[in-house]
Parts: sequence; C-alpha cells; structure tokens
Amino acid sequence: MKNIHRFALAVLLLLSGMTALTNCKKDNSLPYKYESEVLNLPDQPYAYRDQQIPSHLANIATVLQSKVTDQGATLGRVLFYDPKLSLNNKISCSSCHLQEKAFSDGKRFSTGFDGGLTKRNASSIVNPAALQNFFWDAREHDLQSMVLQPIKNHIEMGMDNFDALEKKLGQLDYYKPLFADAFGDDKVTRERIADAMSQFLNSMVTSNSGFDAAVPGGWGVQNPGALTVQQQQGMNLFFGQAQCGVCHNPVSNGSFFNESFANIGLDANPADKGLGANQPGMDGMFKIPSLRNVALTAPYMHDGRFATLREVVDHYSDKIENTPNLHWTLRGFDGQALRMNLTDQQKDDLVAFLQALTDQQYVNDPKYSNPFK
Ligand code: HEC
Ligand code: HEC
Repeated sequence: MKNIHRFALAVLLLLSGMTALTNCKKDNSLPYKYESEVLNLPDQPYAYRDQQIPSHLANIATVLQSKVTDQGATLGRVLFYDPKLSLNNKISCSSCHLQEKAFSDGKRFSTGFDGGLTKRNASSIVNPAALQNFFWDAREHDLQSMVLQPIKNHIEMGMDNFDALEKKLGQLDYYKPLFADAFGDDKVTRERIADAMSQFLNSMVTSNSGFDAAVPGGWGVQNPGALTVQQQQGMNLFFGQAQCGVCHNPVSNGSFFNESFANIGLDANPADKGLGANQPGMDGMFKIPSLRNVALTAPYMHDGRFATLREVVDHYSDKIENTPNLHWTLRGFDGQALRMNLTDQQKDDLVAFLQALTDQQYVNDPKYSNPFK
C-alpha cells in the first residue's frame, strides 16, 4: 500500500529535484504518430501545457509552462494507468485514484499490490502543481527529502530496484515511441519515469466548479448566479458563522495557511497520531485537505470514518471532542470543544455549498482518462 503509494509520491516529487539531472531537451517538433495494440492515444497529443487556468490559480500556469510538455504528460498518463509499474502487474496508480471520483477510490482504505490495506484513506488528486504538502500527515514537502525519496520508495513498492523497473518498461514496445516523443530517444530511465509521471500529475488541473464561476479571479463573489440560493447561504455560513474558511480556502488550492494542518477533534485520543507520529506535540493533527470535488470523494477524513458530507457537518456542529491539540477555532470561550448547534437547514446549506465545489469537466476530461484499450 504505502509502498506503491510512496512510489507515487516519489515520482510526483522528483520533478522539482531532478530537473537539473534529467535536463533532457524536448524537441516538440518531433512528429507524434502513435499506433498501438494496447493503447488508445490521440493522433495529436492533448493540450496539457496550454490550459485555460483562472487567475486565482495562476501559479499552476507557471508550473505548466516551465515543467510540462504535451508529450511528457502523455507518457505520464500511460505510466499512471499502467499496472506494469507494480511488482505483480496488478496495481496501477489508478487502482486507488479513479478519475470519476476525482482520483480518490470510494473506500475507507485501499488494497495494495500485496493484498494489504492502506493505513489511510486514499487522497483525491487536487491540483498537485499548487501543493506544498502531500499526504494526510503532510510528510512530503521538503525538497531535500523529496530528492532522496525515489529509490527508497521504489523498493517499498515491491520491485527489487529501479534497474528492474527500467528493464521491464524498456521491454514493452508501446513505451518506445512515448519515451522518444517525450525525451528525444527511447531510453527508459528512472529519472524520465519520474519526470513524465510528475508532468502528468502537474497537468491535472481542476478549476471549473460552480464556485470558481462565482468568484472569478478569487476576489469576492462577482457572479452569485453561478450558485443556487441555497449554495449562497451555505457559502455565507462557510466563510462566516461556521468558520470553515478559517482553515479551508476553496479559492486557492488548499487552505489559507499554505495547506497547513490542524486537529479538528475527531477523537479525544487519536489512534492515528498524524503529524504527531513524527513530531512530538502534534498528535491528531492532519493536513487540511482541499475541498475541491469533495462531493465525489467520500468517505471522508484520513481514515474515511464519515460516509457522507452531512456526517462531516454533524461533526463540526455537534461532536467535536476536546483534545489537547484542538485548533483554537473549534474551541468555545470556555475552553471546551465548540458546539455550533447548527440547524438542519444550516447543515443542508453547508452541504449544498460543498457540492458547488465539484468540477464535472475534470472527471470527464479525456486527457486524464485511462489510455489502455
Ligand atoms: C494501493 C492504493 C494506492 C495506489 C496504488 C497509489 N496510491 Fe496514491 N494514495 C493512496 C493513499 C492511501 C494515499 C494517502 C496516504 C497518506 O496520506 O498517508 C495516497 C495519496 C496520494 C497523493 C497525495 C495527494 C495529496 O493531496 O496529499 C498523491 C499525489 C498520490 N497518492 C499519487 C499516486 C500516484 C502517482 C500513484 C502511482 C505511482 C499512486 N498514488 C498509487 C493510495 C494509493
Ligand atoms: C481548524 C481547521 C478546520 C476548520 C475550522 C474546518 N476544517 Fe474541515 N478539515 C480540517 C482538517 C485538518 C481536515 C482533515 C482531518 C482528518 O482527516 O483528520 C478536514 C477535513 C474536512 C473534510 C473531509 C475532506 C476529505 O477529503 O476527507 C470536509 C468535507 C471538511 N473538512 C469540511 C469542513 C467544513 C464544512 C467546515 C466548517 C463547518 C470545516 N471543514 C472546518 C480542518 C478544518
């Protein structure tokens, strides 16, 4: 589980560190002609690099222009969906990250290549180009550790080593033209695998929700009509009385505090210590996740304990546990866990607003879909 998954991260994060090492000049004038028994790819690659990015996510456009080519992301897409990347050829990234669920998997815990269950709920994939922290415990974010991750992670994934992976992929005919188009020749290297996969992940942009339409540029609600009246009421609660917006910022990618972390009082004594597993004094703290597409990514929280958004809202309204690290927002003036006591109507309104964060284009976009026939 963790293994495969860590490999994923390795791959994702490598790009930042490895660009200097790989430094492959990409000749975009190379003819793209692709025919394959196993793959269904367009004659011209999809536009991964030149996408319409709203100005409130402008940092993503910068990443696309500096790190992504259409050919590189095309290769990355194939790698993302290819079970050949696992030891027993059974599990791909997409086994746990399904497009129709905004790249989460609908399960509390996911089954890894060895049949074991992951320790945490599979994250959805939300604008990774704009992320600073990855995983529920935000353990991946530091450039130096990123650069050191790959080999370690790859071993954990279950393959003997990167040499074996390079050899395995090098023997698959369908990769030859893909590597050649992405990197100039068909040599398969770990750096290229990592580079291409992170190009694909960086190219995964979700920015077409009703909420995005309501707040063009991210500065205030200029088109309230993009939301239903109930969603507008929910939005006012979200940023007002219910204080959700203190932590979750649906405008930018994650949260106001640069996707930092918080303890939201799920348990008085958290079984999974989250950041506390590695850093004393942080028990029960987890990354503040983006809420983009959250209506598609049930079940919720790091351990998938809540099946519905209504259960999530019930938690914040009525069930917060008092625990030493409980975030100040979720404490009352008396120092006890806050009881917002929202009405049923308010709860429904909040859920309606969360549904306005869904981007149907993202989950139907062919350029992120499974390329295998
Ligand atoms: C067996 C299921 C499984 C497979 C296979 C898998 N993942 Fe994951 N993925 C997870 C789980 C579970 C998490 C959350 C783990 C955690 O936070 O500790 C996760 C988290 C992530 C995240 C972090 C998202 C965020 O916002 O923090 C990314 C990115 C990711 N996976 C990409 C990949 C890629 C790329 C691959 C393929 C190389 C892959 N995953 C394969 C289960 C899986
Ligand atoms: C103190 C910061 C904070 C506040 C305030 C806050 N959240 Fe959260 N939220 C988090 C954190 C941290 C998590 C992840 C917790 C975990 O998994 O242990 C989370 C998780 C969630 C999730 C689940 C996301 C997923 O992918 O599983 C939803 C939905 C959510 N919050 C909605 C809300 C709503 C609605 C409000 C207002 C009523 C709110 N949050 C207020 C920090 C906060």
